[in-house]
Amino acid sequence: MSLSIVSRAVRPQALNSAAQQARTAFSAMTKLPDLPYDYSALEPAISGQIMELHHSKHHQTYVNGFNAALEKYQAAESKGDIATTIALQSALKFNGGGHVNHSLFWTSLTPSKDYEPPSGDLSAALEKQFGSVDQMIQKFNPAAAAIQGSGWCWLGYDKPTDSIVIATTANQDPLSTQGVVPLLGVDMWEHAFYLQYKNVKPEYLKNIWQVINWKTVAERYSKAK
Ligand SMILES: [Fe+2]
Repeated sequence: MSLSIVSRAVRPQALNSAAQQARTAFSAMTKLPDLPYDYSALEPAISGQIMELHHSKHHQTYVNGFNAALEKYQAAESKGDIATTIALQSALKFNGGGHVNHSLFWTSLTPSKDYEPPSGDLSAALEKQFGSVDQMIQKFNPAAAAIQGSGWCWLGYDKPTDSIVIATTANQDPLSTQGVVPLLGVDMWEHAFYLQYKNVKPEYLKNIWQVINWKTVAERYSKAK
């Protein structure tokens, strides 16, 4: 009996404390990251207008959506409302995926004046896997252009086969949903290119390789291995 009383008195407080800690942790994590370059720094490959809208409006919306869904999730969880926590999974995945994918995308790009081609282990792995970087791009671009609706095209590291793979995901699904480590993601949502390239996806895909930050991709590859 006394145990029951203790349990009633302490457990909700403990839960609230845990939820508060989780909320504090997530709130600190989930905010719009600054870009490591100016909005216009990727021109002419990607216009400053696209970059400003893409980062300050679209990415911000995913951040806001994730925080709102997480707050609802934590409130439902603290009440033991399992049905609501399940209903919120879709919003968490979509908005959380949008935040994760875009955060990775910004750091996968570099001003064209700073561009350097792949080198070292990454370059060797790409040559082994695809023949050359150019041959990889010749496979990557058609895969990206063939995405129906909105999604992402990726270079990823597949640990079981110790290989670099080209993969696509729909909507804002992160590549981790396929069990593959993302090395480089190219945003194939229209908001990423339409203002500049209209419906000509191949031109966007041709030019984006001028601003890929291969140094960051190589660091991800080294860490993934
Ligand atoms: Fe995007």
